[in-house]
Amino acid sequence: MNDKALLVFDEKEQTFFWNEHRLKSIDFRSRSLNGLFKENCSYTLIKNFIDKDIALRIKEYYIQKKMRDVFYNVNSTGNDRIFYYLNSPYQYPQFIKSLIMKIMEFKNKFFIYTDFYHTYCMVMGLNPKHFEKVACTQSLHSWQAVYWYKNGQSHFKHIDNYGELATFLILSELGKDYSDGGLKLYCQNEEKVLDDLYNYGDLCLFDQSKLFHEVVPIKVEANQVGRLQLYVPTIPLNYMQETLVFENYPNRKFYTRKQSIYTKIMDRIRPPYVSKDIHYSRKEFKHYEYTL
Ligand SMILES: [Fe+2]
Repeated sequence: MNDKALLVFDEKEQTFFWNEHRLKSIDFRSRSLNGLFKENCSYTLIKNFIDKDIALRIKEYYIQKKMRDVFYNVNSTGNDRIFYYLNSPYQYPQFIKSLIMKIMEFKNKFFIYTDFYHTYCMVMGLNPKHFEKVACTQSLHSWQAVYWYKNGQSHFKHIDNYGELATFLILSELGKDYSDGGLKLYCQNEEKVLDDLYNYGDLCLFDQSKLFHEVVPIKVEANQVGRLQLYVPTIPLNYMQETLVFENYPNRKFYTRKQSIYTKIMDRIRPPYVSKDIHYSRKEFKHYEYTL
C-alpha cells in the first residue's frame, strides 16, 4: 500500500482523497527537521504524491489545444501561467480546487514545525493541528498557478520572504518533456538541480525563504512540450491587499481575512468600488473542460 499514491483521485466526484495508510507512515517531524527546514539545504520530495497516470492526465489537460492560449505570459523570458484564487468570483474545475486544498493541508503538516506557523495560528485563532481548517483560512490570502516553461524560459535567481513555503506538483519530466534546465537550489555547500530527482506525480517542497533559487533556462526540443508544474505557495497574511477585486467583477469585493459584519454592511452601502487596477494574476482564465 505504501508504494501507492498518497492522494487518490475519485473520478466521479473529481476530487482527491488521502490514502490514509500511506499518510500515517510519513514521519513529518523528521522530514521537516532533517529536510525541509534544515539550515544548509532545505527541501524534501514526496515520491508518488499522486499517481503518475493522473499527473499525465493533468498535463494533457493543460497542454490541450484549447487550453494552450489560456496561459498568460508576464514577460518573454519568464514562464507562462494560469493563476488560481480560490477566494474569487471565478469558476474552476473541481479537480484542481480539490488538489490545491489537499496540497495546502499536506504542507501544514510540515509547516507546524516552524514558529511562523504557530504565530499565524495564534493570530488567527486557529488550532495548529487542524491542518485542513488552517488551509481554508490560508486560501483566503493565497494564490496558486500552473507554470509552463517553454524553450528558453527561466526564473531569475532570488530568495523569497519569511513565511513563504513553496510546493510544486510535478507534471513534466526532464528528459521527456524538456531536455535541460530546472530548479536550482543554492545549498550551503553545493548547487542542486531538483529536476534531476523528481518524476511525474511527485511533490517537491522547499523553503524558499531560506535558500537562493532559480529556474535555469529550460531547453525544449521540437518533439517536447516543456516544463509544467502546479505551484502552490503559502502567501503570508498582509502580503496581499485586504480587499481584492478581479477582472470583469469590479464591484465585487473579496476579503483576504475575516471582516466584521459592520465592514461588510458598509461596503454594500458605499458607492460601488470601481477599480481599473487589477493585477495580472487576478485576470479570468477560462477553462474549456471542467472534468479531468
Ligand atoms: Fe521563489
